[in-house]
Formats: sequence, C-alpha cells, structure tokens
Amino acid sequence: MTYVIAQPCVDVKDQACVEECPVDCIYEGPRKLYIHPEECVDCGACEPVCPVEAIFFETSVPTPWREYLTADAEVFIPLGSPGGASAQSPFTSDHPVVGSS
Ligand code: F3S
Ligand code: F3S
Repeated sequence: MTYVIAQPCVDVKDQACVEECPVDCIYEGPRKLYIHPEECVDCGACEPVCPVEAIFFETSVPTPWREYLTADAEVFIPLGSPGGASAQSPFTSDHPVVGSS
C-alpha cells in the first residue's frame, strides 16, 4: 500500500510534498512528481500539504485518476529502488498517462 500523486499535480509541481517526506521518496518528472511505491512508508505527511490536493492513499484515488496508480509504479521499473530522490536527476520523460492528461 502506498500514496499516489494524481492528475492535479501535472504542470503544477508545487513540491511542498517533497519538503514533508521523511524518506525522500518523491521523485521529479518533467510535468509531475511520483511517489516510489516501495520506498514510501505511508506516513501521510505529504497529503495535506499539496495545494491542489493531488495526493491520495491508493485506495482513495478518485476513479477518473485510477490510472495514476499504475503510472507511479511503472515509472520506477527501469530505476528500481534508488533509495532517495534528492540524489537523482529528474526523469527525462513522464509516464505516458501524463501525456494524455
Ligand atoms: Fe505535485 Fe502537490 Fe507535490 S502539486 S509536487 S503533489 S505538493
Ligand atoms: Fe513520503 Fe508521503 Fe509516503 S510523505 S513516506 S510519500 S506518504
């Protein structure tokens, strides 16, 4: 179980969530940020600070945005578990679901 960043983050990227995360598991793409599903410890600190309410617990993602559950998982397949976003360069591309937003 994990938290997920959905469509409202696209092209907003406020990044208040990054400041709150105690395990540095929120990674940056060109148009959206992504929570690593295995590194997130489900503390929930990021969810209330997002000004556009883009962050949801995975069982609470609104139906129109359910595909963002898949996006946040699939985007990490090539990377594995780097163990910290701040040491990583931003992704060079977003998950395809972002392009259809
Ligand atoms: Fe995006 Fe909200 Fe974080 S806009 S970058 S999920 S604070
Ligand atoms: Fe970080 Fe939010 Fe998970 S603060 S640990 S991404 S619930």
